[in-house]
Amino acid sequence: MNPGLARLQAYPFERLRALLAAARPPAALEAISLSIGEPRHDPPSFVLDALAQQLHRLDTYPATRGLPELRVAMAAALERRYLPAGVRLDPERMVLPVCGTREALFAIIQAVIDAGSGALVAMPNPGYQIYEGGALLAGAEPYYLNLRAGHGYRPDLDAVPAAVWRRCRLLLLCSPGNPTGAVLPLEQLRAALELAERYDFIVAADECYADLYLDESRPSPSLLHAAALAGNTDFRRCLVFHSLSKRSSLPGLRSGLVAGDAALIERFLLYRTYHGCAMPLPTQLASIAAWNDDAHVSANRRLYQEKFDRVLPLLAPALPLERPEGAFYLWAPTPGDDAGFARALYEQAHLVVLPGSFMAREAHGENPGRGRVRISLVPALPQCLEAAARLREFLLNAAPAAR
Ligand SMILES: Cc1ncc(COP(=O)(O)O)c(C=O)c1O
Repeated sequence: MNPGLARLQAYPFERLRALLAAARPPAALEAISLSIGEPRHDPPSFVLDALAQQLHRLDTYPATRGLPELRVAMAAALERRYLPAGVRLDPERMVLPVCGTREALFAIIQAVIDAGSGALVAMPNPGYQIYEGGALLAGAEPYYLNLRAGHGYRPDLDAVPAAVWRRCRLLLLCSPGNPTGAVLPLEQLRAALELAERYDFIVAADECYADLYLDESRPSPSLLHAAALAGNTDFRRCLVFHSLSKRSSLPGLRSGLVAGDAALIERFLLYRTYHGCAMPLPTQLASIAAWNDDAHVSANRRLYQEKFDRVLPLLAPALPLERPEGAFYLWAPTPGDDAGFARALYEQAHLVVLPGSFMAREAHGENPGRGRVRISLVPALPQCLEAAARLREFLLNAAPAAR
């Protein structure tokens, strides 16, 4: 068997289930789940209609490369949103459809790592668990970039020793970040690319939350934009991962894209032909409709902005939190141990939140998720408000010493 399998950690939600298994929440209170990052807003009906109208296309094997019209729609969406005027993303060579960013992030690690070469994959910590699992199963060693409040929850790339960069083959970035909501500014993306040039590695930016920025006047930038500003309009060493899951509230469609360096995309296409996860044609055709429209994306984003507008003031007396820059999470400090906090909150207020330490690894002498919980504002607004009110009461009633 692949020895990496034995090194995989339990998924955070398995650990959460075990943590809460014996707890008895108050039956009088409706359970509100704020633990999972699954969008719950209504998906755009025109996308669902497009899907329904194309079901007869299930009679055909789809091509891994996807329909040309799909790649054109995806490239155009990225150009509209991220690229300076005149910079093109060639739909023939620089874009591929993927069945959601999860499988694509996992697959890219398998495609780029030379197992047994001592390769490192650098990744944010806390971070999306697939990065670590992908690295382990590819035979690489994860290198954890701890995200700390003092550094704006952005990886401190300057603090990484040169010896680490020399072994690094892939740097994974996530912006806006899960779970912190931090956005990586263009300067930091550019600095990452400079390191990639100097030490010969690839930068893969997980930008699946990129359309959910929480200040309407500050859209989150893309690694592609940083590359273009540095004159790297071939997007050499860059790959970005985008998804309709959060942008269009379509997590079940399993539709996303990877874009960037044509030479990497070509090799990744070869990998994917064997990997065998071409996107079904009805999904491709529905995805064209979704990528071609930005109005539903703004409407979706505004729903999240409204949640933060309403929830943060409600929590403020007990839990003053800064508004994150993007995504739909609060990365909240806990009085005391985060797992104990999550369990007590479930037992007393029937709220489910994810302990931060379950999303992070012990690295460089600390677990940077310890003492935090991730609160996911995905339920409908009234439920988010009810949850915020219960959380506030819970915190205000906690022993003062614990606050
Ligand atoms: C940081 C991050 N990346 C990737 C994904 C996967 O999203 P999808 O496969 O639906 O595109 C998620 C899902 O929650 C996520 O939080």
